[in-house]
Amino acid sequence: MTTTITLIPGDGIGPEVTAATLRIIDAAGADLEYEKQLAGSEALARHGTPLPDAVLDSITRNKVALKGPVTTPVGKGFRSINVQIRQKLVLFANLRPVFSVPGLPSRFQDVDLVVVRENTEGLYTGLEHEVVPGVVESLKVITEKASTRIARFAFDYAEREGRKRVTAAHKANIMKLTDGLFLDCFRSQAEKHPGIKADDRIIDALCMQLVIFPERFDVLVLENLYGDIVSDLCAGLVGGLGVVGGANLGEDCAVFEAVHGSAPDIAGQNRANPLALLRSAMMMLHHLGKRDVARRVEAAVRKVMVKDKVLTGDLGGSASTTEFTEAIVQALE
Ligand code: NAI
Repeated sequence: MTTTITLIPGDGIGPEVTAATLRIIDAAGADLEYEKQLAGSEALARHGTPLPDAVLDSITRNKVALKGPVTTPVGKGFRSINVQIRQKLVLFANLRPVFSVPGLPSRFQDVDLVVVRENTEGLYTGLEHEVVPGVVESLKVITEKASTRIARFAFDYAEREGRKRVTAAHKANIMKLTDGLFLDCFRSQAEKHPGIKADDRIIDALCMQLVIFPERFDVLVLENLYGDIVSDLCAGLVGGLGVVGGANLGEDCAVFEAVHGSAPDIAGQNRANPLALLRSAMMMLHHLGKRDVARRVEAAVRKVMVKDKVLTGDLGGSASTTEFTEAIVQALE
């Protein structure tokens, strides 16, 4: 059955990795129709706003979106489109499975963990102001509602996916109220899920342990900023930002996007690895019930990368984005 989804190609390498991803999933028989929407600086130039209402309306109507990265101006300019979409559509859970594929170049060969990041509050509320010249404040907002919601999501996910353990990360020794509340909510949910082992780490110690023995971790649940940073750290454990996909999930809608950004340093050069967005699209296909299509794509990816050793530059290979893409299309069975 044909399903219509919202498509936000984004900017930088966004259009390149999006085109590659659609080429592969269409060839695999995903049977999707795409409602294309502009967001970011191009939308600002054309429509006078970086996030037109039409984008949110389209996602709300279709319930599912595939999104390329969108550049956010540093230190000035408009607020992150990514953060706004997550907050406005209450896509409270950011789910990022991080796993090593045996045979692929990566620092570790036995990583299989999932980062669950709270997506709606923390230090990403955008509540910043100048107190007096030379003194500025950024407000970190932690609520019982959102902390309980993300902890419950992490435990439910662990139960559903047959995972054994959920580890919360925090800095409750310093931020006693905010991170303390996050930790309390996590512990309350842990009591309600006795079948799943629960523990916690101070965020700095977690980072150290992740780079030494990442194979010991299973599901991680973190507030927004820690989750953002730890996601990139974990991507580095298994080959880099070019290989980790993700999903932003809410009660009503889901937006699938890679962990990486718009990579302006390689944009337009046919060098980007489309695998991260492709993996996000595979998560989307599972979400849409098109599991067979996702499995066909995964089998082709493994054949091309592990057996035929066709790799993009970020993984030490020499294939361009389009060569890698066409190799996967040819490998589809
Ligand atoms: P980035 O993730 O775009 O790039 C970091 C490094 O990883 C660069 O050297 C880049 O070339 C490389 N890289 C990233 N994705 C790659 C891929 N698919 N294949 C090969 N190499 C890849 O992070 P950066 O440079 O800090 O951010 C650039 C822009 O992206 C910023 O404006 C930022 O706000 C935005 N951003 C957007 C996100 C989104 O739309 N979800 C997420 C993260 C950042």
